[in-house]
Amino acid sequence: MDIKQKMQDLVDQINHYNHAYYQLNESLISDEAFDKLLAELQKLEFENPLFAIPNSPSQHVGGTITKTFKSVTHQFPMLSLGNTYNEEDLREFDERIQKALGDEKYEYICELKFDGVALSFWYENGKLIKGVTRGDGTRGDDITNNVKTIRTIPQAIQSTDFPSSFEVRGEGYMPISSFDKINAEKIANGEAPLANPRNAASGTFKMQDSRVVAQRNMACFVYAYLGNEIPFQTHEEGLKLMQKNGFPVSETYRKCSGINQVLEYIEEWEDKRHDLPLNTDGIVIKINDLGQQERLGFTAKSPRWAIAYKYPSEIAHTKIESVSYQVGRTGNVTPVANLYPVYLAGTVIKRASIHNANEMERLDLHENDTVFIEKGGEIIPKITGVDATKREINNSKFEFPSHCPACSSELIRLEGEANHYCTNYLHCPPQIKGRIEHFIQRKALNIENLGTETIDLLVEKGIIGTAADLYDLSESSFMGLDGFQSKSISNILTSIVKSKEIPFRQVLFGIGIRHVGATIAEKLVLAFQSIDNLARATYEELVAVPEIGDRIAISIGEFFQDPTNQLFIEKLKSAGVQLSEEIQEIVLEGQALVGKSFVISGVFENFERDELKAKIIANGGKVVSSISSKLDYLVAGNNMGPAKLEKANQLNIQILSEEDFLALLS
Ligand code: IVH
Repeated sequence: MDIKQKMQDLVDQINHYNHAYYQLNESLISDEAFDKLLAELQKLEFENPLFAIPNSPSQHVGGTITKTFKSVTHQFPMLSLGNTYNEEDLREFDERIQKALGDEKYEYICELKFDGVALSFWYENGKLIKGVTRGDGTRGDDITNNVKTIRTIPQAIQSTDFPSSFEVRGEGYMPISSFDKINAEKIANGEAPLANPRNAASGTFKMQDSRVVAQRNMACFVYAYLGNEIPFQTHEEGLKLMQKNGFPVSETYRKCSGINQVLEYIEEWEDKRHDLPLNTDGIVIKINDLGQQERLGFTAKSPRWAIAYKYPSEIAHTKIESVSYQVGRTGNVTPVANLYPVYLAGTVIKRASIHNANEMERLDLHENDTVFIEKGGEIIPKITGVDATKREINNSKFEFPSHCPACSSELIRLEGEANHYCTNYLHCPPQIKGRIEHFIQRKALNIENLGTETIDLLVEKGIIGTAADLYDLSESSFMGLDGFQSKSISNILTSIVKSKEIPFRQVLFGIGIRHVGATIAEKLVLAFQSIDNLARATYEELVAVPEIGDRIAISIGEFFQDPTNQLFIEKLKSAGVQLSEEIQEIVLEGQALVGKSFVISGVFENFERDELKAKIIANGGKVVSSISSKLDYLVAGNNMGPAKLEKANQLNIQILSEEDFLALLS
């Protein structure tokens, strides 16, 4: 197959998986397999920039750092919507519309009200030039680099359907699957989980490092088109036109003639909405005809032609059976309420999180209390209140334990932290097991064939006490243990041996220093290269690394001061686990190209393409794969494609011949 066709096939495949994931809530492929396809496409695009497709999904991978976001003024203010909470309010809205439009017939478009953050996308000459938050409605933050990571938002539109300048608005969100994944990681790292997908989305879109944003699989549904020129007559036509041009329009909208059909839509989606990839808190009802919208106009805050209907919030009440205290791998103790099972938002709830002692105190929880539980997209629902009127006099109050429920050591509470910790780091069984489970997970040492039950058994039998002991295991270690065939033992041992090849960045994450998640581990490895350098690093050296703050630096310092941890690391070292990583340092030949970006195209007389690329990097420049308005230079060799040249000319990009390039270097 020729390369061009291969690239097109990859683009089609990736777009297909993106569509299934974001529009249909279907994961047709594993994350790794998806990343592999994307990496393959990026590689081909880099090697064959002539064939790169302008709106390739590879354009969404991030990689920029924004220190402070610029504030920009919206061309059209971003208003809010009036709210209704019941049928009566809605009928009143409909009567107001009827009165204002006189005899005219009218239709509504009903859409779901997506619970994320409002975003505005500005297009100029077919290109996405800005992504802006709502802000105060008049001015918002320019978060272009972050919105560009949304895989379903086109960065270029190749059609004549739209005028040269327009704006599309929608709701940016973090899919619940990403939210759950991030929180599972946070909990595994001993960090506080994110509160709910909406907060998570708004925090993520304001992150400085767009690469981290890209890893979070942010998504969007668009629901409005604005501009001085509007190429359609009704809202529905607008949605269809946006969809035709590749914008992510949720297919859940419906045209309704009359308020009764609106009420049917509301009823139909009350349960069905829980199957969507994001939270929704109601529906939005909009007049379909744009002329009628214009005649109905706006109040100071919101349009008169649209209104939101909010579903009742999802609360259930039940009784507490007991409270258990779970000990995490870092020793943090979390209270969890065991409940009499109750049905809430599509699932039967038996447990609810109480988070920490402060929360227990705030709720003033007593035995047998009737509690309200709410589901806000968190991993497990939380208790939001107590119905004190139902409390019986003799029920005693739940007290946070003073000692560890697993090993009976005294609990401590660190200054400024809400959590209690068990300090019996060495011998507390759930901590030991938790640390080993953390060590073997896929993102860490990736030791397959070793499940939680086996770890529990090996720890309970005293066969292993730390993850480093895994490397001492042999066939005889399993002697006398039930349920292990020689095949499964050999599989376990093979995976353990294989883990010695896992790169240091994953090992460092697996070691499980409190507050050092996978991303921080990567940053630390880039900065220090080896465990010995990291162990020797001073506080000042640690906080000088981007994203390493006080809390992480102190935690790293404490970890390496502990003799048990020193022993653990020594053991990993003698087992042959990777505890350093060579980071190729680029030694600059010169500074001539610092801060400049280049696209290379065509064939050159004095350089192979790779050599030219290396020359640019060695002189401080950056090589990118496609032409955009931000590009500084196109280095044009022989036989370069006319389309690329034309695009560069259109965008006024400076074009360099091979001689010009050499002149620039010197
Ligand atoms: S239309 C004039 N449609 O709800 C406002 N908004 O309270 C036009 N939202 O800020 C907004 N889903 O962030 C519209 N299908 C939808 C929506 C939607 C969610 C949010 C949006 C807006 C807020 C209004």
